[in-house]
Order: sequence, then structure tokens, then C-alpha cells
Amino acid sequence: MSQLVQLDGEGSSIALLVPETGMPLLLHWGVRLTAPLDNATAEALAVRASRINGLDESVAAATLLPTGGLGFFGWPALAGHRSGRDFIQSLTGWDVVRDEKSATLAARDDIVGLRLEINLELHPGGALTMRSGLVNEGREPFILDRMMAGTMMVPERATELLTFDGMWGAEFQPIRGVRPASLLLRENRRGRTSHNRYPALVLGTPGFSENAGEVWGLHLGWSGNHVVALDSLDDGRCLVHAGELFEPGEWIIDAGDEYRSPVVTMAYGAGGLESLARSFHAYVRHALLAWPGGRMRPRPVTLNTWEGNYFKHDVERLKRQAEAAAALGVERFLLDDGWFGCRDDDRSSLGDWQVDRRKYPDGLDPLIAHVRSLGMEFGLWIEPEMVNPDSDLYRAHPDWVLGVEGRPLVLSRHQLVLDLTRPEAADHVFAQIDAVLARHDISSIKWDMNRDLTAAGDRIGRAATGRQTRAVYALMDRLRSAHPAVEIESCASGGGRADFGALARAHRVWLSDCTDPTERQRIQRGASIFLPPEVVGAHVSASPNHQTHRAQTMGYRALVALPFHFGVELDPVGLSEADRRELAAWITIHKRLRPLFHGGRPFHRDPDDGRSLYGVAALDRRQAAVLVTQEQAAIRELPPPLRVPGLDAAARYRIRLLNPAAPDFIRQTAAQSDLLGGGRLVTGEAIFRIGLPLPALRPQSGILLEFESQGA
Ligand code: DGJ
Repeated sequence: MSQLVQLDGEGSSIALLVPETGMPLLLHWGVRLTAPLDNATAEALAVRASRINGLDESVAAATLLPTGGLGFFGWPALAGHRSGRDFIQSLTGWDVVRDEKSATLAARDDIVGLRLEINLELHPGGALTMRSGLVNEGREPFILDRMMAGTMMVPERATELLTFDGMWGAEFQPIRGVRPASLLLRENRRGRTSHNRYPALVLGTPGFSENAGEVWGLHLGWSGNHVVALDSLDDGRCLVHAGELFEPGEWIIDAGDEYRSPVVTMAYGAGGLESLARSFHAYVRHALLAWPGGRMRPRPVTLNTWEGNYFKHDVERLKRQAEAAAALGVERFLLDDGWFGCRDDDRSSLGDWQVDRRKYPDGLDPLIAHVRSLGMEFGLWIEPEMVNPDSDLYRAHPDWVLGVEGRPLVLSRHQLVLDLTRPEAADHVFAQIDAVLARHDISSIKWDMNRDLTAAGDRIGRAATGRQTRAVYALMDRLRSAHPAVEIESCASGGGRADFGALARAHRVWLSDCTDPTERQRIQRGASIFLPPEVVGAHVSASPNHQTHRAQTMGYRALVALPFHFGVELDPVGLSEADRRELAAWITIHKRLRPLFHGGRPFHRDPDDGRSLYGVAALDRRQAAVLVTQEQAAIRELPPPLRVPGLDAAARYRIRLLNPAAPDFIRQTAAQSDLLGGGRLVTGEAIFRIGLPLPALRPQSGILLEFESQGA
């Protein structure tokens, strides 16, 4: 007898029919089902007739983790063999253990000698996680070629696809297209989450937008090689599988041993990307983030020393910068790359985690003490997984790097990757970083990782990316439990490691090395579908921008970074008096509004005539903040009225323009200036239904508006 398994969450449901033999059938994943479904009906709905010239028995296609060889002709999500035999796997005798929000499905293949387990769990906010595990119950090793973490099914009407590609400095670039009617594989072989293939996608009904259309999203929490496969079924529905990508021979499960997959997270939104983002954000907040002390404290405004100093560390200069930062209102001073070994550029010293006494004759303590005396926390940059050939560590242990005998060690940024699957290498790195953290008053680390993996083999020449990724996670976990008060920022040449696997261990991500606000908007937009604003690092950097050489006003730079985990990445001593005053004012505004930015309901509007919106409405609807930015020059005479969702229709709002310096309006009428100066109370309904007639802005400028309810 088949068994119906249905889990109902906030706005979403999954319904499965678990058969006697074969994989669990996916009946539904999407909007919450409200009328009860019973076993017999579920069975009737699951039956698919086989076609003429088809098999005499119908074979289920819409299943979790389909396997091949017995009539499923699509892309198998599980595949392997024993030295060339046992290439067919078929699971039988399902055991279901469940409670209201989760289910564990387990079954065996007695012919091959395998036990498969699939875990499903619904989370607050409606997201669903899946993961799988395979135990080798046979007497010989089982060679696992492929094992997905989970499968999402979308209905035939979900014909549009949104994926995120990119490169260094241009992460999270949205690629929108039509879902192919065949197989689409998105594979990442770079050994880290990558800038190029973010392990997430969205499928939706035609024309889905920020706030309209049905959308199904999937995210694989994994910082190594991955595959996301879209396999359209004959009836138009589509399976989306996500899991680790294995190199040949990478996973050989010894007798009695097991493979455990990463976690794949799925979300459904009935009201466009905004509703999907709400589920993903709730998941990150409830299931992943583990704050020191159990609760997030206000995200400290951070000064990162990188773009203001690069490798040129001078204690006195850094102290002056710390003073200038504190005067601006900065709360965390993070010392980036360049403080250890003999690191004057990126050619040496990774692996030698001792303070560079040439730059810091008395160690880091005098700088830390100075920073602390100014009322700021101190943070430190590290890149624990790496080693430069020009380092004491490499000279002592040249065999501790990932590599395959006889194959070239390809350098990237002059560095090699430590083989952390070797316990002695992992222990050594742990001891070094542990000592740095134990000896200093450090409240956060920026954990960087600056290269893709090549020839990622272990001592005996086996592919090791998956085990290396697990070893990195283990090292992070170990350091976190040794130093539970220390926060971690996950960085990999910018946003190369901003996935949920990393966020289960970190407290923020560095999204991109491109800090140009015009570019950053798009990067932040893509990431914000999955990541809540408080974990997204965003900095005001110098003008002209170091990556694009564009010059931009302080107001525009600050606005684009303001609603995220806000920071500064420039030499604050070198600021002009006007910029210094304006930046200090923006920091004050950020601090006042950060409970709203980091606790409200965000919404976006993609650029319309060069103008985009990012807004946040308080959960109680009493307050909202809206950032309007004009990235390119408009080609229409007037901007469309500003409509703000999330307000209380009956309440009357005072509207205030918060920019500390005069905005770059092309022309403003007296009525507009009165409206934006709080001179009129406007109902939430009028603001949403009629909209505000904003003045046009010059390109690369913007405004911040606050809406405060004065009651009905
Ligand atoms: C890459 C990071 O993305 C930068 O922010 C900076 O930390 C450098 N590495 C330092 O080498």
C-alpha cells in the first residue's frame, strides 16, 4: 500500500505518495493545500498511463531522486555501481517517520545492499529543506557517481527561469529566460561556491516579477562543486535536482560507511520574488544564523581597512584612521589582509599566521587597544585554507597542499590550497588561528578564500573537493566552538562563498569586491532574493571607485549600501570635510533606521527608466523607508509616481526626505518640496494607490524617504 505524506507550512505544502517499491512520488510542492487529501485519491491522481509503444507498466517519473534502469528515462538523481555491477538501484519497503513539520523516509535496496534516507523539513516562513543519505550495507565498496540532495517539482505553468551567473566583481547577475523543454545542467567545478554559478534558481509563471506571479525557488547550501539539473517531464512538469558534483571516483562508500548530502532549501511564493524572498530570509534567520549569545545585536557599522590601505600597514596611520572612523560613528574596525608573515603583496606569507613584526613591532595589541579605547570592536582578516609557496609553512610542509602527483600545481593569486582533509594540516591551521584569537581581543574575523581549486586531489590521488569542503566546514565549526563570541564574515574574492552552507557558520557575507554603487545595486538585488539584508556586507568606498574608476557622490555611495550591514572601506582621514560630515550623518541615519532595515519587510522595484527602488516597511506598518536611486539618465520627462507597499491604508503618514546633503533633483516644485518636507499627511492608501509625484533625479544619485504614521 502506498502512503500519503503531506506537510503543510506557512503558505506552502508538499504532498508525496510513498509507494511499496520505487521512489516517493511528488504530487505537489507549492501553495498550501487546504482541503484534505486521502491515500486513495492521491493514488488515483498519481497514476499515469503509459503511451503506445511504451512499457507495459507505467513507471513513475515525477519522483524524489529518480533512479534509472527500470523505465525512468529521465536524468537519474542517484547513480552508482560496485566495480561495474549493480548499476540499477531500486528502493523498497519504505519506512516513514514523521511529525507535523518533518518526515524521514528510509528504504533499502537488498539486491545492491544500500539503505537510502531522505529528510524533509518545513521551516517557519514556509521554506522546505531536503537532504539525503546513503549507507553501504554491502560487503564491497559502492562507487557513488551521483547523489542529489533533493528534488523540487514545479508545475507545467512554471515556464520562466531565473539563474545567477557572473564573475569576480560581478556576482549574482540575473539571467532570465525560458525553461528549456529538455535537460538543463548547471554545473560548478571550481571547488568553491563560485562567482559564476550561484547554486540557486527561481522558476515561475510567465512574466513573474518582483511582486506578481507564482515562483518556486531552490538553493543548495554547499560551498564546493555542485550540480543543479532541470529535467522536464513528458507531461510538462519539471524536476529540479540539486546536489554535490562528484569528480570520477570521488565518492567510494566503503562497506558499512555512508554518504551524507548537503541541504537543499526550497521556497514557494504566490506573490512574486518578494514573497519568495520572505521565505528564504525567514529560513536563514531561523535555521542557519547562530548569533553569539543567541540573538543578533544591531549590526555594527564597520570600517574595513582593505581599500584604504591594501597591504601597506602602518600602525600610526591605522590608528589615525581608527580615530577618524570612530568620529564618523563606526563601531567595528576590521584589519584586512597584510598584518601577518611578511605580506607586502599577495605573493607571500599565507600560512604564516604570526603578526608581522616589521609592521607591528609590539604586535597587534597596541592597535587593538587603541581601537577598543575609541569604543569600537576589532576584527581581523584571515585566509586559513591557503598557503603561498613563499611561506614558512610551505617550506616546512610542501606536501600539505591539494595536488595530484605528476600533475602541475597551478597557482592562482600566487597561492595553493592546503589539504585540510589531512588531520595534521587542519590541526596546524586550527592551532595557529586559535592562538591569534586567544591572544587578542578580537570580536570578528573575515574568513577569505581567494582561489578556485585545481588538481584537487589528496595524498593518494583521489578527488578531494567534497571532503575538502567538509574539512573547511569542520574547521569553521571548530573555531566557532572554541571562540563562540567571535562572528565570522564569509568572503571568497568577494562573493564567491555566499551560500547557505557557509551561512550556517557565518554571520555575514562579503558580496563582491565591486563597491561601485551602480554595479552593486544589481549584485545586491540578486543576492537579496536569498539573503536577508543584515547578513549582506555593503560598504561606502572611495570616489573614483577603485574597480570601475567612476566618480560618485557620497550621497549615492551611502544610499546604496545603507539598508544592509553597513560599512566604510576607504581612508577616513583623507575625506574632505564635506564628505566627512555627510558620511557621519548617513551613519547616524543608518543606526536610527537599522532596526527597520534589518527587521522589516523589504521590497524592490527593478530599474524603470534607470530608476530603482528599495524599501522596507515595518511589520506593524507604522514606519517605512524607501531608497530611490537613479542609476542611468532617464529618457522620459517625468518619473512614475512612487507607490509604497506595506503601509496601513487608513493611517496618515508624514513623509520626510532624509538626505543630509541636497539631492540631485533636476527640478523641484514648491509642492514637491512641501510634500517631501513633511508638510502634508498622506494616507497609506493614497501613497500606494495614487503615488507620490517625485522630482526627477540626475543619474547616479538618489534619495531616502521616511514614512511615519501619525495615526488614522
Ligand atoms: C579578497 C576580498 O574580497 C577583499 O575584500 C580583500 O579582503 C582581499 N581579498 C584581501 O586580500
